[in-house]
Amino acid sequence: MRRATKIQHVLSARQFKDRGLLAHLFGLADDFKTQGAAAALSGKTMATLFYEPSTRTRLSFEAAMQRLGGHVLSSENMVSSSSASKGESLEDTVRVVGSYADVIVLRHPAVGAAERASAVSSMPIINAGDGSGEHPTQALLDLYTLLRHLGTLEGKTIALAGDLRHGRTVHSLVQLLALYPGVQIVLISTDDIKLPRRYLSGVSGWHEVRRVKDFDHLLDALYVTRLQAERWGKASRSGRLREQYVVNEQWLSCLKQTGVILHPLPRAGELVPAVDADPRAVYFEQAQNGLYVRMALLYWLLLSRAES
Ligand code: NCD
Repeated sequence: MRRATKIQHVLSARQFKDRGLLAHLFGLADDFKTQGAAAALSGKTMATLFYEPSTRTRLSFEAAMQRLGGHVLSSENMVSSSSASKGESLEDTVRVVGSYADVIVLRHPAVGAAERASAVSSMPIINAGDGSGEHPTQALLDLYTLLRHLGTLEGKTIALAGDLRHGRTVHSLVQLLALYPGVQIVLISTDDIKLPRRYLSGVSGWHEVRRVKDFDHLLDALYVTRLQAERWGKASRSGRLREQYVVNEQWLSCLKQTGVILHPLPRAGELVPAVDADPRAVYFEQAQNGLYVRMALLYWLLLSRAES
């Protein structure tokens, strides 16, 4: 068991600065992917508290816990089906659920919600998305997928496209990419949805362009995101803006033949189904990797905690 880095709550990608820890987690994920899992977490319980919709994140966390032999307390619609509808505070809910579960996976529309929860929780909180803040476990599975396809990130050019302002997956991923010297990050977005500068601290090589064709080297990876309509309203639904982010032939010709196309999903038109047949499209595998990476994270978090 690797215990060099102590992480009590998983709130932000910036907690994963130790590349040794990342390698350890990804090695565990490889093992779970190829060899399955023993009932390492039998007797442990994970609660999922989701105040926002989810398909992949909640279900892959739940599948991960079940594959490790643990139990799951699932609440997929906290807003209407929990005491939140009676006005209960997040803090009170978390205090109580922590007395039933060994770990809490929380998704909430407010930036900083996971941090607030962690301040009152005796059990680890895992941030499964806090509004337009962060989504650290998505970044872990994104990084795992990139590394397994590209071998290394050093010297690679990774483009992040779409709603970089509100997209929490990008906010977390950029902080992990920054750990790899020599990685070039290309940010593709229009001015109103640019990546907030605070996520770029510590990132050495980055470029910002409005369109993919404005960058004059071939890409090793293209990470596409959805326009987060729910976070910035009507403007994002305008046809003209959406059209600009639809990955077409021109985009695909900017990606090396050995490159990869990722997307955290769900997609909302920016990747048409025809792209699925492109051998560089790995987004469904990426979603499946979420299962193995979350197994690795739960295993590491719960067992290293029990041993300490
Ligand atoms: C993302 C999210 O919820 O932030 N989805 C996910 O967890 N895979 C991306 C999105 O909703 O656009």
